[in-house]
Amino acid sequence: MKYTAWLEQHIADLTNKTILITGANSGLGFYAAKQLAYRGGHILMACRNENASKKAQLAILKDVPHAKLTILPYDQSSFQSLNRFVQLIKASYPKIDILLLNAGIIMPNPKLKTPEGFPLTTGVNFFNVYYLLRELLGFLDQKNPEIRLVLVGSYSSYRARLKSIEGLLNSRLPRMTQYANSKLAIAMLHHVLQMNLNLFDFPVLEHVSAILVHPGIAATNIVRSLPKWLQWMINGLISMTSHSAESGALSLTYACGNAYVVNGSFIGPSGPGESFGFPKKLKLKPHFSQGSAKLTYAVGKYLEKIGGPVDVRSR
Ligand SMILES: NC(=O)c1ccc[n+]([C@@H]2O[C@H](COP(=O)([O-])OP(=O)(O)OC[C@H]3O[C@@H](n4cnc5c(N)ncnc54)[C@H](OP(=O)(O)O)[C@@H]3O)[C@@H](O)[C@H]2O)c1
Repeated sequence: MKYTAWLEQHIADLTNKTILITGANSGLGFYAAKQLAYRGGHILMACRNENASKKAQLAILKDVPHAKLTILPYDQSSFQSLNRFVQLIKASYPKIDILLLNAGIIMPNPKLKTPEGFPLTTGVNFFNVYYLLRELLGFLDQKNPEIRLVLVGSYSSYRARLKSIEGLLNSRLPRMTQYANSKLAIAMLHHVLQMNLNLFDFPVLEHVSAILVHPGIAATNIVRSLPKWLQWMINGLISMTSHSAESGALSLTYACGNAYVVNGSFIGPSGPGESFGFPKKLKLKPHFSQGSAKLTYAVGKYLEKIGGPVDVRSR
């Protein structure tokens, strides 16, 4: 296993900490799970593919025999599957210290939609993350003295602009624009949560620190929807010019486990162009905050419209 000296120096002892990681079977989530397990955390690996998650579990145990790993079924593609996951957490895993919301996709077939009618990219990467937090965060906030919530953004959001919710609902936008918009919406949600702006459809949160992270550009399986030859070319190019999934995961691991990362922090790679390197604190971009309250309010209202009114007191 790589980076053990760095991990011992920069990541706190996580013994007795429970860490939920979505998409922990592949890429950045997999290596973050391994690195955080190395520091003693009990990792709840929330994954949609049972075989892939068991393989990932065995691979982590091979390198980190003391790893504490529990696989949980998790599908971020519909409200219905998220409801099942929320019920499981409420019934069996109420103590969670750190949430790493890492699962995400890029450039799927543009015709695909989630059951709720969202374009697949913005549905999986943003609306369903919002929905999961709406359903779960209030509960966790009541059950845990301190929660670190780590949201995974992307460098692509630097160039994106979101004037309204339409930029998240329009499936005719170029696929890369949909991805960048989904990640900008995550950065804007981070702003609202870290400012404790009290989203109208969330209960008041008292114990949540919200952290945003971007991993730079890392060679992972995220390009899986592209033809094989293109995946091979893209990952070859990334490996030569940027960094590996294992190195990219260090930013996620640092955001989850460094003792000096506080509410509102933005973490990413320190190398040229923020594309690779060891993690450091980055400056938040002005457009992550501009219009963020308006956007998240519109999202809350939209979800209320399609999913019925929300009783905040019940969560
Ligand atoms: N790689 C980069 O350069 C880069 C740059 C910026 C941001 N990011 C972000 O980093 C995060 C991790 O991506 P990665 O690069 O590590 O890609 P990856 O190797 O493809 O891993 C993505 C993970 O998300 C899971 N996932 C996707 N859709 C899901 C769903 N509907 N329900 C449950 N799990 C789902 C995948 O599960 P399956 O294996 O079952 O598909 C996989 O475990 C993403 O949010 C991505 O946007 C990556």
